[in-house]
Formats: sequence, C-alpha cells, structure tokens
Amino acid sequence: LKPVITIDGPSASGKGTVAALVADKLGFHYLDSGALYRLTALYALRESVNWEDALGVARLAAQLPAAFRDGKVWLDGNDVSAAIRAEDIGMGASKVAALPEVRAALLERQRAFLVPPGLVADGRDMGSVVFPRAELKVFLTASAEVRAERRYKQLIAKGESANLDRIQLDISERDARDAARAVAPLRQEPDARLLDTSALTIDQAVDQVLAWFAA
Ligand code: CDP
Repeated sequence: LKPVITIDGPSASGKGTVAALVADKLGFHYLDSGALYRLTALYALRESVNWEDALGVARLAAQLPAAFRDGKVWLDGNDVSAAIRAEDIGMGASKVAALPEVRAALLERQRAFLVPPGLVADGRDMGSVVFPRAELKVFLTASAEVRAERRYKQLIAKGESANLDRIQLDISERDARDAARAVAPLRQEPDARLLDTSALTIDQAVDQVLAWFAA
C-alpha cells in the first residue's frame, strides 16, 4: 500500500512547511517538487544554458545530478540547499517550469518518490498531473498579503535583506505565470480540498490535513 497526499498551491502559502510536517507525522516520504524546478534553474545557470532554451534546459533536467540527503539538497555533490532558495532562482524555476519539455523530463523522477509506506508531495501539479489518483488532494493557499508577509519573515530570519513591496510584486508575477501557463497551470482540482491558511497556525493546518487523511 502506497498512499499519496498531494498538497498543491501558490508561492509562500506555507505548503512546504505543512507538507513536510504531515510527512513527518505519518512517517511518509516527502517530495518537494519545487526543489526539482529550482535545481533545474540553478543547474542551467551554472551550465550557462538560458532559462528560455526549452531543449537545453530539458536535457539538463533529464540528467539532473541531484540528491535529497540528510535534510539537504545536493547538486553535483555540492550542498545547494541555500542556493536554490534565492529569489532569482525561484524566478528561474518559475520560468523553466513553464516549459513542457522540462515538465516531461521531471515527471518520472517525481513518481519514483512514491515508495512504501507512502508519500506527501508538495507542488503545483501533484494532484493534477503527477499523482492524479492520490488518496487525498489538498489545495493549500493564503491571501496574497499573508503570503508576502510570510516570505518576508523567512528572508529576514535568514538574515537577508527584504523589501515587502518587491516581494509582493515577485509573488504576484510568479502566481500569474504559474496560473497562465499552457501546461499544468496552477489551479484547484475539482476533487481537491481547499485549505486557506490565512488565519491558521502551522499546527492547525497540519492537523486539518491529518484529519482529512484519517477520515
Ligand atoms: O517556494 P515557492 O512556493 O515559491 O516555490 P516552489 O514550490 O519552490 O516552486 C518554485 C517554482 O517552481 C514555482 O514558482 C513554480 O513555477 C514551479 N513549480 C511547478 O511548476 N510545479 C511544481 N510541481 C512545483 C513547482
């Protein structure tokens, strides 16, 4: 038995945190699919392949020398956990993620994360494309203001400089691109449950997902 819980939603909604905690509570594996798109963007940058070069980027994505180990993300043997979280890499991820060739190149790699005892998969198209037969699908979101605020606090906590207006612009630009793209646009699946975390704590959000899964 290999149950899957998919948690899809927009940028900075908190889905990554919630998904990782749900996986932890259930003893399930965790797929951070956004990290694969971020890795692809970073790898392209390092290999001097343009983010708009669909075939070039897809070729890199197909043989991404990446690993998730010890709570860290590795590219070519280097710890890139912090590097892939940079704002410009997030923007690059959103660009390469709009390319159908890149999405296709990463599809099987994502499905391979599904091994016993189960998986919590976090992304944009986990419930629609990658695991359409998931036991539980959640669409996790929060208001644009709350999401910008969360991203802002994350950056400040990391000791980085941050500008709230700039973050709000980046988030809305990324949301617009994720929703407008031809392949796997971000939207709530008809069979996904809506979880608006604007007024919820992380624990409350985690408990809601666990309750749905147990039901
Ligand atoms: O941290 P944030 O939620 O902003 O981003 P992420 O989950 O790390 O994903 C980075 C980018 O990858 C997003 O802006 C999406 O464009 C893209 N992505 C995607 O297209 N499909 C996924 N399953 C996951 C991420």
